[in-house]
Amino acid sequence: MNTPGTAVQPYPTWLEINLSAVAHNTRRLLERTGVDLMAVVKANAYGMGAVPIGREMLAAGAKALAVARYCEAAALRQEGVDAPILVFGMTTLPEVEAAIGQEVRMTLHSRENAERISQRAKALGKTAKVHLKIDTGMGRLGVLAEEAGEFAAFAVGLGGIEIEGIYTHFAMIDDEPDDPMAPVQMERFRQAVEGVRGVGVNPRWLHTANSAAAMGYPPSWMNMTRAGSVLVGIRPFYFEPFPAEMRRVLSWKAQLASCRLLPDGWGLSYGQVYRTQGAEWIGVLPVGYADGFRRVYDNEVLMNGRRVPVVGRVCADACMVKLDQTYPEGTEVVLLGQQGQEAIQIEDLSARWKTSQADVTAVINARIPRVYVRD
Ligand SMILES: Cc1ncc(COP(=O)(O)O)c(C=O)c1O
Repeated sequence: MNTPGTAVQPYPTWLEINLSAVAHNTRRLLERTGVDLMAVVKANAYGMGAVPIGREMLAAGAKALAVARYCEAAALRQEGVDAPILVFGMTTLPEVEAAIGQEVRMTLHSRENAERISQRAKALGKTAKVHLKIDTGMGRLGVLAEEAGEFAAFAVGLGGIEIEGIYTHFAMIDDEPDDPMAPVQMERFRQAVEGVRGVGVNPRWLHTANSAAAMGYPPSWMNMTRAGSVLVGIRPFYFEPFPAEMRRVLSWKAQLASCRLLPDGWGLSYGQVYRTQGAEWIGVLPVGYADGFRRVYDNEVLMNGRRVPVVGRVCADACMVKLDQTYPEGTEVVLLGQQGQEAIQIEDLSARWKTSQADVTAVINARIPRVYVRD
């Protein structure tokens, strides 16, 4: 903590990301499951920086990385990350060609996409490594379990395709205690694996487990888990506290831009929906909704180790807080993370903002510097 007093960074607002905590979480998950790990760094590692975070996860023992779009994989390759990378989402024809050249693994999910991949791979004289996606209950990309064998035979028969993995994704394991769908989805997945093996295709990796399943549902572990959020300090279950064995990774900090004693009845921000009640110390923070700090009325931040309310409407690039006393400009304010004995965690913001935890962190504007620390 650095209050009262000047913040240590040269930026008005910044994210502090603890790479030692990422390494710790990765090792803990590997020890807990005893199987390989594909670490998910999609959406710029949930806003925290895919390259540094992905490197840290690989150094801590992850075997592979996963992203949602090809461009994310290309950015990792560009930075010299040569581990296997899987793209979960669609790949367009030009992307298929580039992905094959860079050994980026694509998701195999339909006949048309199998044909695209095969055609480009054969034209390049290469073999495309793909992971076959089974739709066991998400209704998103994938083939149904009962179609899996025939589909795998079709895809491999086209030529130029190697099915390196087979996978599926749980629909509600993170927000339903004793999720009734998880065993059903696992059963469908096993049926799919059997079907694929039945046509003589033996993928090296079988993976179903996101963070929640990796932490709480051992039948899903197969020979690889595919976790992201818990590795970057996001609570894996909405109905349980953050696991004691894992560490928080992210803090969001800012410097106090201004602090003034405003007179009684002074209206604040657009719409003047807040008016001072007596003379009040009002601080200005250089953070707004364009940064990802949502425009709701019950936000709080930490100042001098205590919660203080955000008052008035959040502007695009600034917001105001009601303070108990005057503080110097540059005093460090915490929007997310720990200050003294108090903390505002990702799940507190997701509850306040009525959204998913990943949505809290993934949309923090790229203009905010990411500062990497170790301990
Ligand atoms: C297909 C797939 N697998 C794995 C994950 C990682 O999930 P989590 O961040 O909950 O570990 C995601 C993220 O939503 C995903 O879309």
